[in-house]
Order: sequence, then structure tokens, then C-alpha cells
Amino acid sequence: MTGTSDGFVVFDRVQKSYDGETLVVKDLNLSIGKGEFLTMLGPSGSGKTTCLMMLAGFETATHGDILLDGKPINNIPPHKRGIGMVFQNYALFPHMTVAENLAFPLEVRKIGRSDREAKVQRALEMVQMGAFGGRRPAQLSGGQQQRIALARALVFEPELVLMDEPLGALDKQLREHMQFEITRLAHNLGITTVYVTHDQTEALTMSDRVAVFNDGRIQQLARPDELYEKPVNSFVAQFIGENNTLLGRVKEIDGTALVELDDGEVIDAMPVNVSRPGERTLVSIRPERVEIDPKRLTPGAHLIHAEVLEFIYMGDIYRTRLRVAGNDDFVIKTRNAPDQRRLRPGEHIEIGWLPEDCRALDAP
Ligand SMILES: Nc1ncnc2c1ncn2[C@@H]1O[C@H](COP(=O)(O)OP(=O)(O)OP(=O)(O)O)[C@@H](O)[C@H]1O
Ligand SMILES: [Mg+2]
Repeated sequence: MTGTSDGFVVFDRVQKSYDGETLVVKDLNLSIGKGEFLTMLGPSGSGKTTCLMMLAGFETATHGDILLDGKPINNIPPHKRGIGMVFQNYALFPHMTVAENLAFPLEVRKIGRSDREAKVQRALEMVQMGAFGGRRPAQLSGGQQQRIALARALVFEPELVLMDEPLGALDKQLREHMQFEITRLAHNLGITTVYVTHDQTEALTMSDRVAVFNDGRIQQLARPDELYEKPVNSFVAQFIGENNTLLGRVKEIDGTALVELDDGEVIDAMPVNVSRPGERTLVSIRPERVEIDPKRLTPGAHLIHAEVLEFIYMGDIYRTRLRVAGNDDFVIKTRNAPDQRRLRPGEHIEIGWLPEDCRALDAP
């Protein structure tokens, strides 16, 4: 599934420039398996929509090939690619009823009337909108319109669906409900989905794999757990989830990396993309991997002095901000449990972590 020749959707050395000078997509190689739910995640301007537009056929690649089911699609117009689409601004037709909106992609494909009516009703029921076929889009809430847009993308049973920030306009509760609904539908129908978002929680919870974009390049392509636990560079570590960072210099590399932090403290870390002594490094540790009661850690844990700056009660967890090795933004999270210590600002403590939870990455 990670080769470039055997996927259902393949980007093969794809580049894109709008102005003939700057590349907004730089040498994209990506292979998406049949039935896979793949999310493109990244900051604004990183090239996500451009990639989706090239796959949909609304933009052409400046260089390279895009293949669908093994065949190049560079010269096939959008409406002949058989792709369902839900875009944030891809509105429903306002003058048509909901049912007419859904029947439209079927008429275009010359599906007969009785078949059409059955498919429309089934698609409406799929998004729990069975009773709304006679309404016009303006008579629906934003969330209901979004569900109709989803039904319209799925009604002609496409093998591939593209979604660009489809839930951006919805409130939190409806968004979470729709996240669940979309993944359930995609998996039940065996649809291959390419989903674009800049919401990392959405990406982590919905996807089989996530491609993290920055500056027109995929920084990491991995399963959600792998992305969170094993970021391959400091961009991914900082973009996905909360992350504590300490700057320093590599002293030695021998299986593990010995890092001298900028305040002189020396710690062990897993070398990820540092390779030689003398190199600057950004050491990354997840808040939930830091122990404030180091007795609980196995021998070999690294202990370091910390000063408590802020202690925040958040219901299920405590969130504590510390000063560690000169960093005033070192955050830890501890469970709200009867035996857990409550810290006070001004208190000096020892914290610890296991070397394998501490990753030596490129310094930005
Ligand atoms: N039609 C266009 N003409 C010229 N430049 C464009 C065009 N569309 C996008 N760009 C530029 O290409 C780059 C990538 O844009 P793109 O829309 O793909 O980013 P994105 O990752 O989808 O961002 P966002 O999260 O803000 O939607 C940006 O620098 C953008 O300004
Ligand atoms: Mg976009």
C-alpha cells in the first residue's frame, strides 16, 4: 500500500505551480489503497486543497501523473472521473428540493426514474434525512445541509469520495456526530476516501492513515497512533498533539543520543533525525509521559528538577505548567485520582520520564 504503483489512487512525482515559479506541491508521491480512509492534514496554505483539486480534475498537475485504478487520469474531465465530492463551498442547488439535488448526479449518469427514486431515498435514509426529500436547502439547518451534501456525494455509489473540510461550519457536537457518520458510511460501503482537514483530532480519530503536509510536501505518512507516538521530525511532533520541547546539542550517539540541554543538563533520548555529535536538536516529550512521582518509574528513568508555575484543575485531569531546563512552558498532565499529588505554584519538584519517551529531533 505504500508503493507508488499498486494503489487505487496514486500521485506519482506530482508537482504543481500556479504562477510558473513557486511550487505549492513539491514532488508528491502517495499511494492510497482501495477502501482506505486517508486524511491530508496540514496548516493553511500547505497544498491540501490543491492536491484534492488535481485529483478531482479542476486543476492540472504541472509535472507527474495521477492514477486512478492503475490508469492515468490527467486527461479525463472531472465529471467523467466518477468521483463523489463534498467541498466546504460546494453548495446544494438552492432552487431544487433535497430529492432533486440528490437525483441530479443520477440523471447526469442516465439512471432511469424508478431506480433513481429508490437510490435517492436510500441515500437520504443513510444520513438519517429520509423525511426531508421535499424541502429546499434554505429550509434546512447548516448541519442538515451538510448531511445532504454528503448524501449527494454518495448517491451514485462512487468508488472514490473527496472531502475538503466538510465539517468546518458545524458546531462541536454535530461535527463529532458527523465524523462518526462519515467513517461508518465510508467503511460500510467500502468507499475510498481522501479527506482534508486542518483539525488534528478529526484526522486522528477518522483516518486509516494521515498524510501530514507542510510547505507542499508530505512530512509524514502514517497511522494515527504512529504519528502521535513516533513523529519523524519536529514539525510533525509540534503539529500533532501537545508536545514539550527542550533545545540542546547532541554530545554522543550510540543507540541512544546523549543530549546536553542549553542549561547544561545532560539527558538521554531516542535519536530520530539527528546523526552526529555537535548537531543542534529539539528534544520532544509528550505531557502525559512525564511522571511527577518518579518513584513510579522503572530504574533508568531520567530525573530532572522542575518548578511549578501553574496548576489547573480540568475535571478528569490536572494540567500543570512547569519551568524545566529554562523552558517556562513545560506542560504535564496527570489523572485526577485520589492518590495523585496536587502541586502548588512555587513548589520545587523532581519529574521524570523514560528515555524511550523522549525523542531527539531536528532543531527548527
Ligand atoms: N487558484 C490559485 N491561484 C494561485 N495560487 C493559489 C491558488 N490556489 C491556491 N493557491 C496557493 O497555493 C498554496 C496552497 O494552497 P491550498 O489551497 O492548496 O492550501 P490548503 O492546504 O488547502 O490551505 P487551507 O488549509 O487554508 O485551505 C497557497 O500558497 C495558495 O495561496
Ligand atoms: Mg484548503
